[in-house]
Amino acid sequence: MTVDGRTALTGIVGYPVSHSLSPLMHNAAFGELGLNMVYLPFSVAPEALPQGVAGLAALGVRGFNVTIPHKVAILPLLHEITPEARAIGAVNTVLNRDGLLTGYNTDGIGLLRALEGEFGFYPAGRSVLLLGAGGAARSAVAALSLAGAARVVVANRTKERGEELVASVAPHLPGTLLQSAPFTLLSDAGFLSGFDLLVNTTSVGMGGSAFGDLALTGLPPHAAIYDMVYAPLETPLMEQGRGVGLPVANGIGMLVAQGEAAFTIWTGQQPPAGCMKRAVLEGIGAATLDIVRQSK
Ligand code: ATR
Repeated sequence: MTVDGRTALTGIVGYPVSHSLSPLMHNAAFGELGLNMVYLPFSVAPEALPQGVAGLAALGVRGFNVTIPHKVAILPLLHEITPEARAIGAVNTVLNRDGLLTGYNTDGIGLLRALEGEFGFYPAGRSVLLLGAGGAARSAVAALSLAGAARVVVANRTKERGEELVASVAPHLPGTLLQSAPFTLLSDAGFLSGFDLLVNTTSVGMGGSAFGDLALTGLPPHAAIYDMVYAPLETPLMEQGRGVGLPVANGIGMLVAQGEAAFTIWTGQQPPAGCMKRAVLEGIGAATLDIVRQSK
């Protein structure tokens, strides 16, 4: 890669950003396509976000990703927000057109592409059970609903948070029956029998942690289980799902697909097939090695 006077800048704004895999993904794709672009990490503290965003616009960056903790706080700093990002209430990708900043959310399309790629699953007319009610759950509810899901049920450990999520997105998503359910229902096989897809949007599974009592045997035989967690690559939930003979997948597909969608927003081009996924898997391999080395 050669940086010269014409290199276009992109990057990620977060706090912290040092563990992000996005620089690896995007720089790999820029390199393979021979685009004169570079993707950088921008560590911006919450109180500096307005100056940070104004600075990026003034410097003429082509666009940037937004990650924790700025995905919601950035909304009032942008000039336009897509209807999907508005429904989700969070932005993960910004395009800068001559100082006009447009906020997108590619997490939802990332999930839909992953479900299609992993399971051949299309949400239209289907019933989905979502575990969790944080930002990742919001993007999933909006994407599934906008793709025609008949019913989405949010089950969250803190029931009130699930109820709040449903109440806040429902006005934007009139085509889908949106409900919340108590976490205790997850141990009821009869309850699970009503769903075509189970999606884990919580952090449970990271580092090998597991849910307590999940009655996965209740899911119908055609159902699939998608876990947004990707470290470890095989989560306890996936093992449990395999144990009852259901198709399962980890969050790598979604991580890569949200990045591919952002790449296309900035460049107008598709990244080369498999390129960003390879970069992520190599990055995770390297990170695992680092942990092993540090613990020695
Ligand atoms: P994100 O934006 O990535 O979704 P978040 O807003 O912190 O992250 O949300 C984390 C989600 O994981 C929440 O739904 C949280 O449940 P609570 O609302 O009850 O806190 C869920 N979560 C985290 N640890 C959990 C655990 N041990 N068991 C069940 N749910 C858990």
